[in-house]
Amino acid sequence: MKALILVGGEGTRLRPLTANVPKSMVPVVNRPFLEHMLEYLKKHHITEIVLALCYLPDHIQHHFGDGHDFGVKLTYVVEECPMGTAGAVKNAAQYLDDTFAVFNGDVFTDLDLTTMAAFHKENQALVTIALTPVEDPTMYGVVETDSQHRILRFIEKPSWDAISTNMINAGTYIMEPSVLDHIPAQTWFQFEQDVFPALLRHGELLYGYPSQTYWLDIGTPEKYLMLHHDLLLGRCNNQSLREGGWLGSDCDIHPTARLTGPVVVGENCVIGPRARIIGPTILGHHCTIGKETIVEGAIIWPETKLGDQVNVKGCIIGQNTIVGDNCWIMDGCVLGDNVTLGDENKLERGIRIWPSRTLAPHTITFDHRS
Ligand code: GDD
Ligand code: MG
Repeated sequence: MKALILVGGEGTRLRPLTANVPKSMVPVVNRPFLEHMLEYLKKHHITEIVLALCYLPDHIQHHFGDGHDFGVKLTYVVEECPMGTAGAVKNAAQYLDDTFAVFNGDVFTDLDLTTMAAFHKENQALVTIALTPVEDPTMYGVVETDSQHRILRFIEKPSWDAISTNMINAGTYIMEPSVLDHIPAQTWFQFEQDVFPALLRHGELLYGYPSQTYWLDIGTPEKYLMLHHDLLLGRCNNQSLREGGWLGSDCDIHPTARLTGPVVVGENCVIGPRARIIGPTILGHHCTIGKETIVEGAIIWPETKLGDQVNVKGCIIGQNTIVGDNCWIMDGCVLGDNVTLGDENKLERGIRIWPSRTLAPHTITFDHRS
């Protein structure tokens, strides 16, 4: 079976992390997210993969090339302007001539694709949609099914009063090529709002494949951070972490520095005297952590430098960013790439700072979003 991965979205909700990289390329445990997806597909013997690109396509093409180095064969289809989830698949129609799988390019899961494909075949379905339970279905596409798993209703991003189930569209579909006949060419078209409800109205066979396995959409900073915590705390049944080891090569860790809990340190990192890195935390490659600095439950992207006596907790800090001495960054703050934060800044409660921003020393910012 061939797969198409939708990786064209702008990743608006993940900003500022997606200012310079597409969502599917944000690092997950120091590797682009899409590398994890390709590994997952290979595990299920899918090696012919079409990538539907739009936002920052070069980034992805440069990294993966024809896919050979990653053990897959990649074909790129680039939209000049976004075509929507279904429009993007229609745009790649020439590569999809047999039963195929479609993936949202921002979902981390170990869904059993092989069993799902057998389920699809058994039911002779036109479309099979993977379903997963979530606590807050209002952020997703809710899917109602009957006792035989046949889909009755599809409601994208419903309000709480319209919700009758916590099972949502998990962003993995198996489809027959004739679905493409229901999508107009060169038109912005969405599976969720346009295709699935119309197919249901026409009485087509759409099935939901329910699964309780690990599932997370990394589309917001909170979820992106949560995925790292889950991976490091062993909540995802994922083995790939252990293969890479926890401590990168050529690091210079001062003997008085302390690393506790699950911590992944990239290559060529420097960790200063009496610094404390408390897991679950990820340091990217070439990071520098100053003396007596505390980093807890955070993700630090590569080439970033934290000064002395900095305190970072539950935050994400982008690439090539400089944090001055005695700064305090707390509770879900997100700093983009190339930010320079002067000494003694205090940031908390989800403040987001965009790339290439310089904050002067002694700025005290509380309780608002920038
Ligand atoms: N090529 C291309 N072109 N890709 C696109 C476009 C487009 O115009 N628009 C979105 N995508 C890609 C995104 O990059 C992402 O990988 C995927 O399609 C889904 O888009 P999101 O923007 O992340 O959608 P969502 O998370 O709000 O909702 C979708 O996913 C949920 C599960 O995570 C829907 O499919 C929901 O029904 C579903 O529950
Ligand atoms: Mg999403």
